[in-house]
This record gives sequence, C-alpha cells and structure tokens, in this order.
Amino acid sequence: MPTKPWDRLWTGVNLATMTDASLGVIRQGAIAASGGRIAWLGREADLPATHTRMARDVVACGGAWLTPGLIDCHTHIVFGGDRTADFRRRLHGESYADIARSGGGIMSTVRATRAATNEDLTARAVARGRELCSWGVTTIEVKSGYGLDLPTELRMLEVAAGLSSQLPADIAPTLLAAHTLPPEYAGRRQDYVGLVVDRILPAALEQGHATAIDVFCEDIAFTPAESRRILEAGIGAGLHGRLHADQLTDLDGGALAAAVGARSADHLEYLSRRGVDAMAGADVCAVLLPGAAYTLGADRRPPVPALRRGGVTMAIATDANPGSSPITHVGAVMNLACILFGLTPEESLLGVTAAAAKVLALDHDRGTLRPGMRADFALWDVRDVVELCYWVGASPLRSLVKDANPVP
Ligand code: NIG
Ligand code: FE
Repeated sequence: MPTKPWDRLWTGVNLATMTDASLGVIRQGAIAASGGRIAWLGREADLPATHTRMARDVVACGGAWLTPGLIDCHTHIVFGGDRTADFRRRLHGESYADIARSGGGIMSTVRATRAATNEDLTARAVARGRELCSWGVTTIEVKSGYGLDLPTELRMLEVAAGLSSQLPADIAPTLLAAHTLPPEYAGRRQDYVGLVVDRILPAALEQGHATAIDVFCEDIAFTPAESRRILEAGIGAGLHGRLHADQLTDLDGGALAAAVGARSADHLEYLSRRGVDAMAGADVCAVLLPGAAYTLGADRRPPVPALRRGGVTMAIATDANPGSSPITHVGAVMNLACILFGLTPEESLLGVTAAAAKVLALDHDRGTLRPGMRADFALWDVRDVVELCYWVGASPLRSLVKDANPVP
C-alpha cells in the first residue's frame, strides 16, 4: 500500500488562521499534520485526494471552529497562598499601592511562596494551568517573582518549567526577581539590584529554564534606572526582555522598553504619547492586561487608538496572579479587552494567538495556522469564532490538539 503523506487530517472545520493580522477565515476547511506540524490547510473541497488516501487518521469535526492553540503570554500562576485579605481591603477603599506599601500585596504572596513546598506550588499551579487549558491555551508564559531570594526564585522557575509535564501546554518561564524590593533589603536598594544582576540572573541562566527577564517598573517597585540595569543585564545575556510598565503611574516605561530592546511592555494604562512612538519605532509589543485594570478599578485605559495608529502589535493576556488579576478565564479577558479597552473582537483574538506568539519570540513556530507551524489547535463549539470573546460563560472548547495529538 502506498504510504499516506499525513499523520492526521481534520475535516469539517471552519479555520481561523490568524494570518496577515486578520482572522484569516477559511470556511468548510480542512487541516492536516505530519511530524507534529501543519502539512496542509485549505478548503475541504480543495483536498488533493480522498481523505482516506491522504491521512492515516481522519477526524471529522462537523462544523466546529479551529484556531491555533491560544497563548497566554503573561501569567504569574506559580504562587503560595492567596490575597483574599487584600481583596477585602480594596473593597474598603484602600488602593493596591497603599496595601503594597504597608507590607501586603506582592510581599504577602512572597511570604506564602517561600513557605510552600515545590509539591504544593506545583499542585496549585497545575490546577490553574488546567483552567487556562480548558480555554484552549497550549502555551503559557509563567513568571517567577514571589521568591525574591536566590533559592526561591530558582525554585519558582523549576516549578514553572515542570508544569509542561502535567499540562497539555508548553511553558515559557520568565525571571521576575525584580518584582518588588524585599523588606530585608529596605534602605539597600542597590544591593538588591546587585543581587539580581550578579547572583540570581547568572544562576537562572545556569539553571537554563528562563527564556525571558521581566521587571516591575513602578514607584512601589523599581525605578527606571534600576529597571534598565536589570533588563540590560538579562537581554545582554541572551534573554528576551519584558517590562511591567506604566501601570499605575507614567514612568516612561514604554520608552525604556524600547531603549533596551525589550520584546514587550505590559499593562500600559499610563503610557504616554512619547512611549507609544518609542514602542512603535522599536517594534516593542504592547501586552494589555484588562483583568488587572478590572480588578484594581483602574482609572485609566491603555491608549489603544494611538497604539493602533502606530502599528504597535497588541497582545492580551490573563496576567493570572493572586493580587491584581485572580483570573484564569481567557474568554472573560478577551471580552474585557473589547468592553474595557475598546479592542475589536479580531484584535482580541489576535491578541491571544499571533500577537502573543510574537511577544514570546515564538511567532515562527505557533500562533497562526500555516504550513510548517506546530500543530497545536483548539476546537470550539461555536457558530462564529467571535463568540469566543462575546459570551462570558463556560468555555466552548470542544477539544485540544497538542503537537498533532488529540488531548485526552
Ligand atoms: O502584573 N504588577 C505587578 N505584578 C503583577 C501583580 C502581582 C501581584 O499583585 O501579586 C501584575 O499585575
Ligand atoms: Fe504581571
């Protein structure tokens, strides 16, 4: 018998390819994989021969929608404890920044994370990761940043990297040792920055899990000068640069991300005109985190029209974390991106696929449906793909495909 060119073929699907900065819809389509990668896609009517001659396994999908596996490019899903106490304080009128200054906020999660075992951290992060995967996610960026000492930062990266063995998702770990100044360094800011640059960063490189470095640049965290020093060290060592920028105040974070050659600046509620221009000029992606704006009741919105005019790539992400975005519902985040930030449904869907892949420097490999790309797919029980950011309810995911294999 002649060998069949494809391992698996999905028929009866409406494809949202996410190519050319559009949904790239192909109705009544089919998509084939071999060797874990997309081998062919197009209209089912254009298949080169009968299904059974082309593929060893044929999956008839009866009109489901098929998108690339979603990419959550900004999460903090590894942490101990919770922040219900902060939640109550915010409901009584205290601000996120005031709670942080009084020793709550990120530092309360640092205490719980330092006290947790790797097994505890893993079990709870796997549960959160499963929730993301139930929303079609097959790639998750996971930050450290609740250790703020050498052993716990490395433990967080180890736990993050290990999640891929328990989830149908690839993990991109990010070193965020500069999340806030730990109290043991009060009055010795430069010593902590030195610890990050001279000890934690080299140890993380040696460990080999982190692919990116991130800093929280904010007046409750690190100054632009400190952020620059840390980012330059990480980027100089070969990591991708990320920056929590201009979330609560305008510290010119967008321009800093551009100046150091970071891949993204994230949050951006206070991004200035100058920052937009700098990001556009240096092709820095904007990662918009509407879950955090919603949770904290932010009084400003990222300058979406200016970002759009400047041609800045806009990704969106859950920012899943215990403090500012206790949210793993990707559909709600896509919906909030439309309702709160004024993104179109197309921008919102591109934000968790093609744009998110670019943020993680994985756009050559995933985030769009094209021949040669990884066969990571989400199949959805919807009549129109825009429903993914329209309903705020249960996930309409029918099934996931990871590396061309159906996820049980
Ligand atoms: O992306 N802004 C800083 N980091 C997180 C919040 C972390 C926390 O509050 O625990 C964020 O919003
Ligand atoms: Fe964050």
